[in-house]
Amino acid sequence: MSSLFEGHPIVPLSTPSTIAQAEALADGLVAGGIGIVEIALRGDGALAAMRHIAGRPDLVVGAGTVLDVEQAQQALDAGAQFLVSPGLSADVVRAGQRAGVPVLPGTLTPSDITAARDLGLTQLKLFPAGNFGGLALLGTYASVFRGITFMPSGGITPANLAEHLEHPAVFAVSGSWLGGAKLLDAGADAVAGAAREASQIAAKV
Ligand code: 3PG
Repeated sequence: MSSLFEGHPIVPLSTPSTIAQAEALADGLVAGGIGIVEIALRGDGALAAMRHIAGRPDLVVGAGTVLDVEQAQQALDAGAQFLVSPGLSADVVRAGQRAGVPVLPGTLTPSDITAARDLGLTQLKLFPAGNFGGLALLGTYASVFRGITFMPSGGITPANLAEHLEHPAVFAVSGSWLGGAKLLDAGADAVAGAAREASQIAAKV
């Protein structure tokens, strides 16, 4: 798949509801050394917030929680450079493929992974990783699904970030700890501090 995630091992997930929150998120992440973000379409303001920060040269902006083709199209129209889903929808995958952007469907079981593989995908979200012993699953899947790598999501924190990033079947991790509403309301400097801490952990892996 695309090399969009190369050099971006941490993909913060956030649902800004205002333009001010979106700016604090984008400015803070970039200042803290993180150049990618997934805007989860879980709230009314998220699409407008994503449109506002999409197109920045210093930030790759994608859409998350894309549940159907209509949302995929809205996200693409708003400038999403990649699409992430909590589960596997072949229609959403094909919409992303037609638009030429990476699509990361959520997978959890061998059947999910096989279905995603049948659609030509090699990079997948593993979700909700933390609820199902994500690291142990990755160990099993690495030997079965050679050539498939994962972005575990769900339950990733600074405390377990390194052990996930060290896993050979992991190309990136995603998590909401860098994009919560409280942190965004605290402003760009607060986001930058948290992002810097995460970047430093990633740099040591
Ligand atoms: C996701 O959609 O990937 C998760 O909600 C992120 O999980 P987290 O909130 O545990 O980081």
